[in-house]
Amino acid sequence: MKIIIINGPNLNLLGKREPEIYGNMTFADYFSELKQRYPSVALEYYQSNIEGELIDKIQQVGFSYDGIILNAAAYTHTSVGIGDAVNAIATPVIEVHISNTFARETFRHQSFVSANAKGIIIGFGLKSYELALQSFL
Ligand code: DQA
Repeated sequence: MKIIIINGPNLNLLGKREPEIYGNMTFADYFSELKQRYPSVALEYYQSNIEGELIDKIQQVGFSYDGIILNAAAYTHTSVGIGDAVNAIATPVIEVHISNTFARETFRHQSFVSANAKGIIIGFGLKSYELALQSFL
């Protein structure tokens, strides 16, 4: 089973960025734990701070992979282009967020991804990614 985690802007700073919201762990450390825990899954990771690069990656994997775990971060709330890309592909997408976006500012309550996602997992910290992975299994 081929699954990719795609992270959007500023998620390269996990571990340093607002640890009271996002925790102390780097995504590299979390990702290597996840790979060890699910050795039977061909699990990949991609991160970009650039909207068009995220769209390119969604298109690139979106007809051949078994699943995409997408945290589009701030672009979740602004990007019609990412929402359209999720709608355009064949691979199912699970939208994830580390924090509970509904317990935060109102602008974080809107998502251009949700309507086109297979499911949504929000607010379980980094565990959100593992729950999404389990949903594919
Ligand atoms: C986030 C929530 C977004 O509102 C925010 O812009 C992020 C991270 C999360 O995982 O909690 O960068 O997607």
